[in-house]
Amino acid sequence: MHSDIQDVLISTEDIQAKCRELGAQLTDEYEGKFPLAVGVLKGALPFMSDLLRNIHTHLEMDFMDISSYGNEMRSSGEVKIEKDLDTKVEGRDILIVEDIIDSGLTLSYLMDLFKYRKANSIKLVTLLDKPEGRTVDIKADMAGFEVPNEFVVGYGLDYQERYRNLSYIGILKPEVYGGNDES
Ligand code: XMP
Ligand code: MG
Repeated sequence: MHSDIQDVLISTEDIQAKCRELGAQLTDEYEGKFPLAVGVLKGALPFMSDLLRNIHTHLEMDFMDISSYGNEMRSSGEVKIEKDLDTKVEGRDILIVEDIIDSGLTLSYLMDLFKYRKANSIKLVTLLDKPEGRTVDIKADMAGFEVPNEFVVGYGLDYQERYRNLSYIGILKPEVYGGNDES
């Protein structure tokens, strides 16, 4: 375990098992279809990679990068598209792949965007769900794990761009975000 991590919340093995389970369900749901999986950069990258390798239908993948005006631990819901999709959404079955739903603001923005672009269907799969953080009424179609209302890192999730490469989800030691500004 990394020395900055206080507790491992979800182990590498549990994440991998969940990717197989969710992948099997999505394989059934998209059988005979050609969904467009949309990953939200950068946090969703590890989950997207492991999940999609467990979906055994044809699919297309694309990425969006969005930034929200908030502080680094919380999004404000005012969203700016930094990188848009290269793929046309109209008529497509969209699978949004996210690392975590907290307030739900980012996701509610994306759902509206894909509706506006006339997606045929929109499904939302998230690795983590933090229901206590919710400020808008949005629910994932599939969520891997519920997490408590604490800041978590690893497996795509960062603090100051670090820890995305951990293979598990953990909670940082308080002294790590307690004013140490070197990066
Ligand atoms: P909303 O609030 O829009 O937020 O649902 C989703 C985005 O907020 C970030 N976020 C976190 N990042 N640990 C992180 O590293 C967390 O505990 C956490 N909670 C929210 C994340 O970027 C996510 O995509
Ligand atoms: Mg994010």
